[in-house]
Amino acid sequence: MSDDDTAETAATSENLVELAKRRGYFFQSSGAYGGVGGFYTFGPQGAALKGNVEDAWRDRFAVAEGNMEIDAPTIMPEPVFEASGHLDGFDDMLVECPECGESHRADHVVEDETEYEDAEGLPIPEVEEVIAKYELVCPSCGAGLAGQAVETFNLMFETNIGPGDSDPGYLRPETAQGIFVEFPRLKEYARNQLPFGVTQIGRAYRNEISPRRSIIRTREFTQAELEYFIDPETDEPDLESVADVEVTLYPASEQNEEGGEEIETTIGAAVEDGTLDPWIAYYLGVAREWYAALGVDMDRFRYRQHLAGERSHYASDCWDAEAELDGNWIELAGFSDRGAYDLSKHDEYSDDRFTIFRQYDEPKTVERAVVDPDMSYLGPEFGGAAGDVVDELEDLAARDRSAFEGDSVEIDLEGETHEIPVEKTGFAVEEQTEAGEHIVPHVIEPSFGVDRLVYTVLHHAYREDEVDGEERTYLELEPEVAPTFVGVFPLQSDDALETEANEIVDDLRAAGLSVTYDDSGNIGRRYRRQDEVGTPFCVTVDFETIENEATTVTVRERDTTEQKRLPVEDLAETLAAIRAGDLSFDEL
Ligand code: GAP
Repeated sequence: MSDDDTAETAATSENLVELAKRRGYFFQSSGAYGGVGGFYTFGPQGAALKGNVEDAWRDRFAVAEGNMEIDAPTIMPEPVFEASGHLDGFDDMLVECPECGESHRADHVVEDETEYEDAEGLPIPEVEEVIAKYELVCPSCGAGLAGQAVETFNLMFETNIGPGDSDPGYLRPETAQGIFVEFPRLKEYARNQLPFGVTQIGRAYRNEISPRRSIIRTREFTQAELEYFIDPETDEPDLESVADVEVTLYPASEQNEEGGEEIETTIGAAVEDGTLDPWIAYYLGVAREWYAALGVDMDRFRYRQHLAGERSHYASDCWDAEAELDGNWIELAGFSDRGAYDLSKHDEYSDDRFTIFRQYDEPKTVERAVVDPDMSYLGPEFGGAAGDVVDELEDLAARDRSAFEGDSVEIDLEGETHEIPVEKTGFAVEEQTEAGEHIVPHVIEPSFGVDRLVYTVLHHAYREDEVDGEERTYLELEPEVAPTFVGVFPLQSDDALETEANEIVDDLRAAGLSVTYDDSGNIGRRYRRQDEVGTPFCVTVDFETIENEATTVTVRERDTTEQKRLPVEDLAETLAAIRAGDLSFDEL
């Protein structure tokens, strides 16, 4: 029996990372070759926990919301990232040490050693000034960094598609682009009707300048993203379903104010007073409940709004879900209003249409400026470029009909200006009846980092207490995410006990439970092993099990170490009901 009802949350990243490696949660990859910064392998426990987190995310954000899930490639061609803005805008600030040559994120060096909290949003010359003013030094060797140039560094991993280098490609830095580029097809699957959502769980790659804090900042990680496409004029979220959800918010206005504070409120109240945009509010509410169910400690959780300089190139508003670890807040997820940015860009750069037809309630009669150029004039004048001239004239008429008010109209063709007599353009303003219009949908994006969540769930679940006079470390993981749900042990080495225990293992596995069998070492040590990986229940087969007619086993609950005897014939059903959340151990 646990001697201490108030087990301590004693995690530090140091003891968590040690446990993670020892018990097979995660460890640095390619250790046989010295390891490589920013790449981690999830071991058997970690892969199972991560899989459970992903399944839980899929259940909530794809299935329960009626969204579609896709699985796109992780390498995409260069034009995708020209259009998305990642080639130009997906940079971090790099400063190189003049002594040891180590590269560091300049904004992190500033944030770690000064009172600046958001150096990422500062312009480069200002970061250089701060480094000089505070005489900041290289975190690796201690050499002064003042006077070193701060440069931008694009975070995308580049590769070549096929032999040679004529076809550059990039490992996607976010799973989102795999959804956006397929929009023309996805909208068909959604029967061309807004709103609809598309999710994806998959790897993303960023060549981080200084990966750090184990799986919190890596170069390859898993994202779970939802791109929700809406008509901003007509679509509204189901706010009622989340109105009462309590949240801790840290709006930009509070961050900018001296003595500004986090606000305790509800989703409904925060929308009402204008702190939250309704669509972002909806997802903050859903995610708050979801994180809590997964075991994130809600006393160490908040939503923080991005400051203006901090937002990504595509976002007009963004709130991060943040969890407190070792006294620092880390970002678990971002909830962005991406507006029409991505679809407009792909519409502009690709040959496809990234729009949706919005039907009017009633057909409308509108005036349209049109051209019907005289090709017997344009042909001889412009030869093979006559078609381009027609395109230019059509664009100009739609954009600026006043350009046709004089005797001639000017167009630009490959950098040269040409004058065309208006009478040869066939310009006219016509009345047309239209049933609707093509609009570029807006995108609301909840974007979750899976690795950081795994880390947080473990960190917040880490406990130390004393059992029977011995120190114990255990993970108070929620059954939904625990890698193993039940451990089954024969009390001691004995054929009859082992046969019965193996039969129970088969029964439990047939009921869909994740089970481990352990017959090595004394029973106390076996309990400790399961406690340390967070297994919620252990079943022990003892002589009472095989000797009694009404066969029973001991079921031990991890957190309290309380034990109850249950009939073997009900065991699978009972434990499956607990796993599904339909029954609790206390109720047995
Ligand atoms: N599509 C939007 C997007 O990618 P982000 O804020 O850059 O937004 C979303 O990333 C989430 O991905 C973050 O909240 C974080 O949890 C995770 N993430 C980002 N960079 C990461 C890294 N280097 N290592 C681990 N997780 C990372």
